[in-house]
Amino acid sequence: MTSVTNAGRPQADTQSTAPSAPASRGALAAQARAQRLNSSTSIPRLDFWSPPDSAKPTFAPPYGRVAPRDGLRRAQPSQERDAAVQACVDKVMKRIDALPEAERIRAKVGQMNQYAVEAFTGPDRGEKLAAFEQRIREGQVSSFLYAGDPKEARRYQRIAVEESPLGIPLLFAWDVIHGMRTIFPIPLAMAASWNPGSAMRAAEVAGREAAEDGQHWTFAPMVDIARDPRWGRIAEGAGEDQFLGSRMAEAQVRGFNQYILSCAKHFAAYGAAEGGRDYNTTDMSLRRLHDVYLPPFYAAAKAGADTFMTSFNDLNGVPSTANPYLLRDVLRGRFGSNAMVVTDWASTYELLNHGVARTRAGAAIAAANAGVDMEMVSGLYADELAKAVLAKQVPEAVLDEACRRVIRLKAEMGLFDDPYGEIVTKSPLDRKAAREVAEDSIVLLRNDGNTLPLKPSQRIALIGKLADHPLDHRGSWSALGKDDETVTVRQALEARAIESGGKLTYVAGNDRDGASTKADIDAALQAAKDSDVIVIAIGENADRSGEASSVQLIELPGNQRDLIKALQATGKPVVALLMNGRPMVLPKEADAIPALLETWQLGTEHGNAVANVLFGDRNPSGKLPVSFPAATGQIPVHHQMVATGRPASFDKDGKVVNRFSSAYLDGPNAPKFRFGFGLSYTSFAIGQPTLSARELWADKTLFVDVPVKNTGKLKGKETVQIYSRWEDSTLTQPLRKLQGFAQVELAPGESKVVRIAIPVTDLTVHDNDGNPMKPSGLYTLFIGNDASAQTEASFVVR
Ligand code: BGC
Repeated sequence: MTSVTNAGRPQADTQSTAPSAPASRGALAAQARAQRLNSSTSIPRLDFWSPPDSAKPTFAPPYGRVAPRDGLRRAQPSQERDAAVQACVDKVMKRIDALPEAERIRAKVGQMNQYAVEAFTGPDRGEKLAAFEQRIREGQVSSFLYAGDPKEARRYQRIAVEESPLGIPLLFAWDVIHGMRTIFPIPLAMAASWNPGSAMRAAEVAGREAAEDGQHWTFAPMVDIARDPRWGRIAEGAGEDQFLGSRMAEAQVRGFNQYILSCAKHFAAYGAAEGGRDYNTTDMSLRRLHDVYLPPFYAAAKAGADTFMTSFNDLNGVPSTANPYLLRDVLRGRFGSNAMVVTDWASTYELLNHGVARTRAGAAIAAANAGVDMEMVSGLYADELAKAVLAKQVPEAVLDEACRRVIRLKAEMGLFDDPYGEIVTKSPLDRKAAREVAEDSIVLLRNDGNTLPLKPSQRIALIGKLADHPLDHRGSWSALGKDDETVTVRQALEARAIESGGKLTYVAGNDRDGASTKADIDAALQAAKDSDVIVIAIGENADRSGEASSVQLIELPGNQRDLIKALQATGKPVVALLMNGRPMVLPKEADAIPALLETWQLGTEHGNAVANVLFGDRNPSGKLPVSFPAATGQIPVHHQMVATGRPASFDKDGKVVNRFSSAYLDGPNAPKFRFGFGLSYTSFAIGQPTLSARELWADKTLFVDVPVKNTGKLKGKETVQIYSRWEDSTLTQPLRKLQGFAQVELAPGESKVVRIAIPVTDLTVHDNDGNPMKPSGLYTLFIGNDASAQTEASFVVR
């Protein structure tokens, strides 16, 4: 059974059980594997991100993981495995190529079609399903998304394997974005950990749970850079920066790839939608495309992303689903990737809406010739492609390439050996991993007068419907996440109060849309009366971010401002928990809130993670992966602003000094909270860096040693950040951009030197034709703990 979530995606019936084993299966072997899987404890924590000395992502060959699998785990790459995959692909292709022409072409096209059971709705569902089953029988279905009901999935698999002419198994896919059953923080929040180890761990747990549910492939990670918080899908990526985004991309690919196939999406520049309106057009210089939007895709490809998904948008006039520059020149040529390319939902059909194809056949031809290997749900390949090949409008070689890539994935997942998969008892939720990743993702934005941490004996009034609504803790892609398994802020704080003899009074004070009546506000004030401190959850519900959730104003919805004002008037200290999927603009009243925690949507363990930080069991260490604008009208505002001819300067009151400079008359240039920013309950001093060289050749790596001291009274984790500026470019460049970072945990009074490696090739930027410019000349580095880093050092590349 499926039901439709807020994101418009089916959630499988959460009671569903694993498929039953076919009679032929060795019961003992299955049992042993299941036991091994179930006995696995929480996926261990990778303490913090510290870049390898070379700072080069180690290259994992994208192919070569084929059976035998270790339980649900994909096999590790090896020569034997590569050879086994290759042999399998050759064998299947040979069988196809032995068919007479028409059948052969049809069989190849058959491997290029993906369908969704969701499409089969309405009173005639039974008939549609029967017709669909017939298509499987005819070898015209290659992959299936949202086969949530394992029995149904198994039935389809059996038809494919036992009744279709070539017996090629189906590949099952699901959007496992930040968790399958154990839900982790939304990807934007995970990026706030600045800890790729956390992101990898989350992806690994998600991959394992998806594999337990019979899935082979996830449509994640989303690696779109986003600099416009009006775009609701900013929640699904790693924020504004390509360096941090690349580290998060490769980490997630490696995590998912432990169990299932990964997919880097949405290729490309989807996050640059004009006006922040979802699916809108993008138009940008090739230099911006290559400098900012493509690096995370490259990192994903290098880390072994198995598939790439085209994006809905057009880029410089060419829809991504029919864009040979992206799919052939960049992906195959520059990236050297053989990842299989799937479209986004119905986007082949949407070529008609884009106006670049006038017929369904024209759309199918354009997509295939551009290099799209598999089409998601529109059925245009199925209907049109064979005819087009026979009419020589699409070379058969295009089908061969696509077909080989698809078959390779199936071989790598061991489906030719074992199409049905093991029966496993599902592992328990990995709450430990979920909680630790969630804790890592919380950002302390303000803590005047050490309002936090709270003391357990304090009487707390908790206000805000968001703090009590499970979905708003999980975010927009919560797969099989369940309400009754999600720990809300309210539940966690109530449990704490009972445990420690404190007192917690909860009053919603508003609804999920942030709307309060006078009675709501009065009730909140009543609760506040008997408290020592007010904790208020503000922000936006989970339906306001994610796909098709763009907004014109990124301010607090409803009249949350009135509620804040009323509570402030009590004179009690206020702690605000921001719950949101995008950067938000807070009302001016929020400036007077002494303690502000960015808690995003943290998943299954949201409440416990927040409680641990509120009470100081965990010292917050997150840093913003995206700038928080001071006003919606500032967008785009980010840390990589480019030098202008009329730079603005501001006096101590924030007034612009020279009228004819690049500034606004009615507000600042700087964001409210800058990229990389995040406080701690302790304090750190970052000392003068030592550079391994002042001059170096372009093939070398610079090492920057930075001393860090914990100058406060609590243990804590700091993220040292290095920003760079190229001073000798003939093209204007960002005034600074993130070039490296490292995390270090220090006891009070302790000092350490962290080493950050900057391979000179990482300084490469592109010219206006999108060609790489060799690094050379003077570079300035800025070292600190956010994008305003002040300590400077410089070096020269020869
Ligand atoms: C989204 C993708 C998603 C796909 C399949 C599309 O609407 O843009 O991110 O993977 O649906 O659910």
